[in-house]
Amino acid sequence: MFITFEGGEGAGKSTQARLLAEAMTAAGRTVLCTREPGGAPGAEVLRGLLLSREHDWSPPAEVYLHFAARAEHVARTIQPALARGEVVISDRFADSTMAYQGYGLGADRALIAALSRLVPVRPDLTLVLDVSPAVATGRMAARRQALDRYEAMGIGFHGRVAAGFAAIAAAEPDRCAVVSADGGVDEVHRAVLAVVARRRSVAA
Ligand code: TMP
Repeated sequence: MFITFEGGEGAGKSTQARLLAEAMTAAGRTVLCTREPGGAPGAEVLRGLLLSREHDWSPPAEVYLHFAARAEHVARTIQPALARGEVVISDRFADSTMAYQGYGLGADRALIAALSRLVPVRPDLTLVLDVSPAVATGRMAARRQALDRYEAMGIGFHGRVAAGFAAIAAAEPDRCAVVSADGGVDEVHRAVLAVVARRRSVAA
């Protein structure tokens, strides 16, 4: 089973991915928790290049770099874990390229869709965490870390990214579930568990 978390900045994806992994581990599953960009040594090197504010990539180059990182992540980490029968939970996957580079930066969406179709694994379930701009801004301010290249982009960019995730979720309701992420950590975790339980009972 391959589960992905998607959503804009400050949605709490990393926390929710970890909590779901802990819950599934407690239920007896072997779970691999991973992230993008990254999740394999070479892909983590590309993550540094993509998030650094020293570089200003052209939109197509940025798309290819995300898919290069993803190819490494899939081949070295995700596919081996799925072959071992493990549950894989990834904090971001290909929908992030469509939302950030496609909708956010205006990169060629047909190119991104074509590259996505060539990725040899597809999530069984994608949880799209939906956070209101005010809550997201408050959470990011509380982190007190230097902003990476994407976090530093303006409110217009992040609005387009949010619209992109909403469009992706609406287009693929069988795979995607939108979960409101404005509430507290436990409340969002309960909503995530409810979606996972519902999807598994449908799949069974
Ligand atoms: P993170 O902050 O969730 O760790 O993600 C790193 C940043 O990378 C985040 O701002 C979203 C961005 N990103 C893209 O722009 N395109 C992608 O394909 C992925 C996976 C992430």
